[in-house]
Amino acid sequence: MTLTRNPFAALLLVGVPALILGAPAQAAKLCKLQISGNDQIQYDKKQLKIAADCTSVELTLTHAGKLPAASMGHDWVLVKADDLTAVANDGLAAGIANNYVKKDDPRVIAHTKVVGGGESASVTFATSLLKKGQSYKYECTFPGHNGLMNGDFIIE
Ligand code: CO
Repeated sequence: MTLTRNPFAALLLVGVPALILGAPAQAAKLCKLQISGNDQIQYDKKQLKIAADCTSVELTLTHAGKLPAASMGHDWVLVKADDLTAVANDGLAAGIANNYVKKDDPRVIAHTKVVGGGESASVTFATSLLKKGQSYKYECTFPGHNGLMNGDFIIE
């Protein structure tokens, strides 16, 4: 088979799928977010915002402190606002072996692992998991932290 014999055939192969699909699908847009936690049980941001056209989000959590994960661990867990306390309570029971997140918890939209001072962790998730008009929050599920370490996750 000679691929170069009929250049027009090659053009057709490229062009036909585009015709079938019609209008182009929403372009993939990865949006990156940064947040850090410290040794005073604080995130550096009380809210995180993404644009409405983000198709996925990459969140990176950095622990800017010095204390180890065992005593001052931080994670980042995204939930519906109403699920904040219950998810943290179930995470407490799940323990550090599960990064203080209940295994396969359907209320958890995305979460990082627990990090200690100087460490960081990332999580990437699809915004198709989020509904417009729903209130979302993020929190640290390390024991005793969620009351101080939480914030609003906003889709603009
Ligand atoms: Co924490």
